[in-house]
Amino acid sequence: MSKKTVRDIDVSHKRVLVRVDFNVPLSPDGKVLDDFRIRAALPTINYLIENNAKVILMTHLGRPKGRVVPNLRLDPVAKVLSELINRPVKKLDDCIGEEVKKEVFSMKDGDIVLLENLRFHKEEKENNPEFARELASLGEVYVDDAFATAHRIAASTVGVASYLPAVAGLLMEKEINALTKVLTAPEHPFVAVLGGAKVSDKIGVIQNLMNKVDAFLIGGGMCFTFLKAKGYKIGYSLCEDEKLSFAQELMKEAKEKGIKVILPADVVVTPEIKEGAPSKVVDIEEIPGDEIGVDIGPKTVEIFKNELSKAKTIVWNGPLGVFEIKQFAKGTYDIAEFIGTLEGVTAVAGGGETAAALRRFGADKKITHVSTGGGAFLKFLEGHSLPAIDVLEEK
Ligand code: 3PG
Repeated sequence: MSKKTVRDIDVSHKRVLVRVDFNVPLSPDGKVLDDFRIRAALPTINYLIENNAKVILMTHLGRPKGRVVPNLRLDPVAKVLSELINRPVKKLDDCIGEEVKKEVFSMKDGDIVLLENLRFHKEEKENNPEFARELASLGEVYVDDAFATAHRIAASTVGVASYLPAVAGLLMEKEINALTKVLTAPEHPFVAVLGGAKVSDKIGVIQNLMNKVDAFLIGGGMCFTFLKAKGYKIGYSLCEDEKLSFAQELMKEAKEKGIKVILPADVVVTPEIKEGAPSKVVDIEEIPGDEIGVDIGPKTVEIFKNELSKAKTIVWNGPLGVFEIKQFAKGTYDIAEFIGTLEGVTAVAGGGETAAALRRFGADKKITHVSTGGGAFLKFLEGHSLPAIDVLEEK
């Protein structure tokens, strides 16, 4: 990676302002439901502590739109971080202001504070220079470890870099290296597994991967637009009719280039997308006119596995069925579990549900990299540079 990291600068005895992405799901009673993003930031935080820095963490949580929303306060996040890192984490009541300065300027080496939700100030999302300067005044160095927010231009992701030396954290470095490797120097065969509801969300990714991969395996809601484009009847399954010609052109282009586009051979159908609804597996020629396709079927799982077993590089984004409902999550789980068993493969996956599926089998630890990014992961796969990475110092 060409960007400087936290290892390239002297952090000892310094106040280090660290942008993390602790935008984690919370239960209605305010418990952190998934600590993946918090765990992912631990290497940077531990590195800073070991090197005698004072660690000032800042993050957004949810979309409070510039107002103080009590259930988006960061207290539960600070609690989880403190448990994971086995040290006190002091959560402050704001992210700027005199009180915050007083606390931050009295920190000792190895102390950790977490500023309050940045998005309680509308100036954060506006990338307001005065707000960015206020944030920057808290630190002597800025470290960006929030890959998952790197596609957003905000005061804490882009603005602060105008006022402080700005370098990448260890998670940011890991994300950039893993994704750059698959995009620029993939070992072949290179297989992309794409799912999720809509084709329209994946157009940029498909276009960017078109000249790189050997095969696309397509599942999720988006496969039905492709199936319809091939002339199959898809009942009430999700379909973006305005994307049918895109799907046809893509399949034509892929064929001309010798790239496989593998669609499901069978799917799970149901009259109703709800827990406990009746469902059955049908071949794609037999999708009932009044039912909805909600998962890939067992034949498809085997076809996908066969293709994946030959791959040297795999990139995966998007669940292969209606993953939120347990009975329609099997295809996603089967593929997640299988990818976790493959050896000698560079496998990179991203997107909240994809990462969660891999974690369920501990497969996240066996594959090369599970990205913390959702939107940022997609933007990177589309081949875009991310604004928060652009502003970091070059080596
Ligand atoms: C995410 O969850 O993808 C990031 O934290 C960005 O959040 P946002 O989409 O609300 O900007």
